[in-house]
Amino acid sequence: TLGFLPAGPSATATPPHHTVSVADLRGPTEPAPGGTVKRYALSARQAEITLASGRKVAAWTFDGQVPGPALTATEGDLVEVRLTNVDIPDGVTLHWHGYDVRNGEDGAPGVTQDAVRPGEEFVYRFRADQVGTYWYHTHQVSDRGVRLGLYGTLIVQPRSPLSGTDLTVPVHTFGGALAIGTHDGMADNPQPPGASVRLRLINTDNTPHRFTLSGTSFRVVAADGNDLNGPGEVREVALRIAAGARYDLAFTMPSGPVALRIDDRAVGLALSPGPHPDTSAWPELDLTSYGTPTGGSDLQARPDKDFTLVLDRGLALVDGKPAYAQTVNGKAHPNIPDQVVAEGDLVAFTVVNRGLETHPWHLHGHRVLVLAKNGRLVTGSPLLLDTFDVRPGEVWRVAFRASNPGVWMNHCHNLAHADQGMALHLVYQ
Ligand code: C2O
Ligand code: CU
Repeated sequence: TLGFLPAGPSATATPPHHTVSVADLRGPTEPAPGGTVKRYALSARQAEITLASGRKVAAWTFDGQVPGPALTATEGDLVEVRLTNVDIPDGVTLHWHGYDVRNGEDGAPGVTQDAVRPGEEFVYRFRADQVGTYWYHTHQVSDRGVRLGLYGTLIVQPRSPLSGTDLTVPVHTFGGALAIGTHDGMADNPQPPGASVRLRLINTDNTPHRFTLSGTSFRVVAADGNDLNGPGEVREVALRIAAGARYDLAFTMPSGPVALRIDDRAVGLALSPGPHPDTSAWPELDLTSYGTPTGGSDLQARPDKDFTLVLDRGLALVDGKPAYAQTVNGKAHPNIPDQVVAEGDLVAFTVVNRGLETHPWHLHGHRVLVLAKNGRLVTGSPLLLDTFDVRPGEVWRVAFRASNPGVWMNHCHNLAHADQGMALHLVYQ
């Protein structure tokens, strides 16, 4: 592999071809008025963990557990996380997936900081100003690190708390076994009829997963932490959640059996006992036509900067020699030209998948508005995402306002693909 974001030379100095000094772009040190400081300490270390099936697996963990500690905050808080690396040989960082932190807090080794080596620490700070469902993970040799367990959930609640049951469901694969948290089976979390339930589905794997919720209608109330407008009730549909992406579902418990299934297997969450139907024939819900439009957005205007990313697998120069790689416009990291923007620019980009594999595209530090998919304009709710699945043959067009200066990764969130070259930088000039 190319060694995506190798341990490499110091990142605290600006990479040579970049003109912005990321070391100065650190987060705030005070909460917003009325907020508090939420302090966490995470220690990265190797540990043996036990899956619900009883199987023991060797893992890389935060605080000896997988997922790592559930981080929570309330809108307005200052979140401060002290990361210590005990014995992760590759080094470790924390990337706040989907959270638009200041650039110096982004945890991209070789770009915004050096990886934290065994015996070292790094303190991250950001303001909890985005309500919703997020996750964190190491970004150092991230394919291996995340696969082995260096990830956890980050939930930010609004100032006036949501009522009802709030369940976070991070899905991960350990050596072929699909697990929710570390429950590799149909976990029980019975809820009484009439209870209002919010399920926060998080895909921490490299491939998409198909989720079905049987026995009830529900609404998809948020995608990637962003509320959807006018989400209607649906039932007997499947949700295909991209690698790295999150959907929040809301519903009221009926009196019959309700279950969440992943990939139509009996892996999931039983919310009430009973026979659960076969869901394998249920059609997929397409979020680009779900919900209610709100009228125009200034992000639909003519962009100041416009980029096209053609994704494929093919020969590219790797360490100066031609080799097979996951490519963007025929090139592999670090040879893909930067996307250079100025603060305030309206930036649009089109992602075209000419390959045979799905590429979940992820931009750091910004949420993008989906403008069109396969040439069709989004007809439902405005759809703001940080990760979107570009399947073979698909074309996605997205836009954002350049409002978070720095140097940001823009990459495939199949982290193995990123490792094999499918990653570039968005650079503020
Ligand atoms: Cu969730 Cu660059 O990553
Ligand atoms: Cu990919």
